[in-house]
Formats: sequence, structure tokens, C-alpha cells
Amino acid sequence: MLKVINVVGARPNFMKVAPIVEAMKRRERDFAPLVVHTGQHYDAAMSDAFFRDLELPQPDVYLDVGSASHALQTAAVMERFEPVVLQEKPDWVIVVGDVNSTLACALVCVKLGVKVAHVEAGLRSRDRTMPEEINRLLTDQIADLLLTPSADADKNLLAEGIPQERIRLVGNVMIDSLLKHLPRARESNIRQDLNLNEYVVITLHRPSNVDDPETLKRILGALEKIGNRIPVIFPVHPRTRKMILELGSADRVVNAKGLLFIPPQGYLDFLSLYSGARLVLTDSGGIQEETTVLGIPCLTLRENTERPITVEKGTNKIVGTDPEKIVNEAFAALDEESKTTHRVPPLWDGHTAERILEALS
Ligand code: UD1
Repeated sequence: MLKVINVVGARPNFMKVAPIVEAMKRRERDFAPLVVHTGQHYDAAMSDAFFRDLELPQPDVYLDVGSASHALQTAAVMERFEPVVLQEKPDWVIVVGDVNSTLACALVCVKLGVKVAHVEAGLRSRDRTMPEEINRLLTDQIADLLLTPSADADKNLLAEGIPQERIRLVGNVMIDSLLKHLPRARESNIRQDLNLNEYVVITLHRPSNVDDPETLKRILGALEKIGNRIPVIFPVHPRTRKMILELGSADRVVNAKGLLFIPPQGYLDFLSLYSGARLVLTDSGGIQEETTVLGIPCLTLRENTERPITVEKGTNKIVGTDPEKIVNEAFAALDEESKTTHRVPPLWDGHTAERILEALS
């Protein structure tokens, strides 16, 4: 029987951990899972809604770290997670993705000599100004087991000198959640409630896009132009909301015709929204993958991606943040009659959690 602590911290972690915990509960003779929530994300819309929608058991331990600078947040997670590990003495700790909680918990484990597995290992944007890139690089250096979503990730790890024995290609666990919940998401009323037929969805929260007022204004200007042609639905992340409210032109933008700002959505309503969209614009990593699986055209408003397979095989295109380019690419995508041809990457098949359990055994 393996005792495993599964760490969640921020919104993109919940859909990765839910299938792993569920698979462990199905094999209760082999696995005793615990869920530790660091509290990096704490708003009902950023956290509770995901536990409910994903049927993730309530956390066994809540560390309540909240928002702070990177150093303070990372330090608070470490300080509060260490006694939990000392008390529970797990056989494994699982960390997922690339948020501050991921690195903080991995670092606690390696110092205590407790085995840690990193799910979604090996992704690299090669942009060290991204806080997530630092979290990925460091977590992969110290984790005992690196569970990768695609072959490019294995290559990155090997190139960094990580031995093959520590690496296991298991596929994309987020897609386990996507495929499981798609039928329930189709029952959501959100599209009727918002009176939507043909529309575009946008999400934006990267510091590089939203923390600089000029960049944010230029992107919002591009959205306004797209909104003149087709409704643009914008579920607004708390970081982005704060920055939009600080912009001098907030009133003009918020009232722009064709641009609909809505609060951050839960897992099912958001899946319902983007799975029915003509086009998705995003700076999220996970959404590049989800649209690839669903065959929805996606424009990524960044200069790079740590998920190149979504461009090579999927429906993703990297367009950067030049407003004219965003509008031109969006119109070109909307002009295309049929959906972009795409292939689903190998092992993005809804069974990654089972492979993760095999790798731990
Ligand atoms: C974090 C992750 C990012 C991930 C994103 C998904 C890091 C370094 N960043 O970024 O990789 O893509 O989550 O959402 O770990 N806030 C709230 N309510 C909350 C949480 C945050 O209002 O529940 C506000 C706070 O003002 C906070 C700001 O959002 O200061 C940013 O939150 P933070 O967790 O620091 O980073 P994110 O931008 O959410």
C-alpha cells in the first residue's frame, strides 16, 4: 500500500490531480491518497468550483497561503508543507504543472528525502522571464520521477542531462478530465444564458500580457475590433480584472459592443463555452492542449509555447501580441470554412492517470 500526497495549489492543478486521485481511490488496496491544497488560489471561482465540478474530494489539509510575492508565497508553502510531510511520512508526493506551489512542495520533499513525482515534466518555453519556466526547470532537476506528456518533453529532459531511468512518458492527464467531463459540460446552460450562437472565447492572465498597461491596452483594442465582427466572450482572471480596472480606458473597453466580460467560470461551464466556440484566443498553456484535442482553432497570444506539439499536431498557432496580427489572424481563422485538420497527440487518450499509478508502483 502506497501512501501518496497529491498537491494542488492553483486553478490549473485541479483538473490534473482529480483523475489521479480518482484512479487511486479505484485501487484502494494499493494506494492511500491524501489531497493537500496550498491555498495559492482561494476564491470560490478559482478553487471551490473546480472541486465541485471535477468531483475532487475536499482537501485533507489546507495550507491557506494566499497571494503574495513569488518569494513570500513560495516560502509560505514550504514552511507549511514541511510539517505535513513529516507527520504523514508519505511514500510519494505528487506535484503537477508549473505553479509556485509545485516547486515549493518538490523542494520540501527533496530536502526531507521523500520521493516526489512531477506530472507534466519536461515542458520548456525557453523563456526564463516566465515564472513558470523557472518552476519547471527547478522541479525537474530535483524530482525523483518525471512523468511527461509528450516525446518532446523527454527530449528536453535528456538534453538537460537527466537520466532516462527518471523519465516516463505517460501522456496528458488533463485530457483524462476533459474526456470524462465533456458529456456533462454539454448539459451546461451557459451558452443559452449568455444568448450565444457563434462566438470567440478569450482568456488572458500572463503577467507579460496583463501587468504592463500598454500591452494590455493594445490587446484589448484588438479584441474590440474582433468584437465588431463576432461576439467575444472574456472570462476575466482576478489578476487581469485588477489591471483592467486600473486602466484609464477601462470604461470604454468594458462597454465595447461585442466584448462580453464575465467572471472566471467553473470547469464545466468553461468547457461548455470553449468547446462551442468558433475560435479561442489565449495565453494559457492548458487551453492550447484542450483546444487541440477538441479540434477548436486556437491563437496563442504569446511569443513562445512550452507545448510545441499543439502547434505541430494540433490546432494552435503562436501569434504574439501585436494587435494588428491578432486581428488579422483571428479574421483569417474565422474565414476558414471547416475546422482546422488536427491530430490528437499520442497518449492524450483519457488513460494517463492509470499509467501514472503504474509508474509509481
Ligand atoms: C498562477 C500561476 C500561473 C497559472 C495561473 C492560473 C504561478 C507563478 N503562477 O498565476 O502559472 O497559469 O495561476 O490561474 O504560480 N487572486 C485572486 N483570487 C485567487 C487567486 C489570486 O483574487 O483565488 C489574485 C490576487 O490578487 C493575486 C493575483 O490574482 O495577487 C495573482 O495570483 P497568483 O496566484 O499570484 O498568480 P496567477 O496570476 O493566478
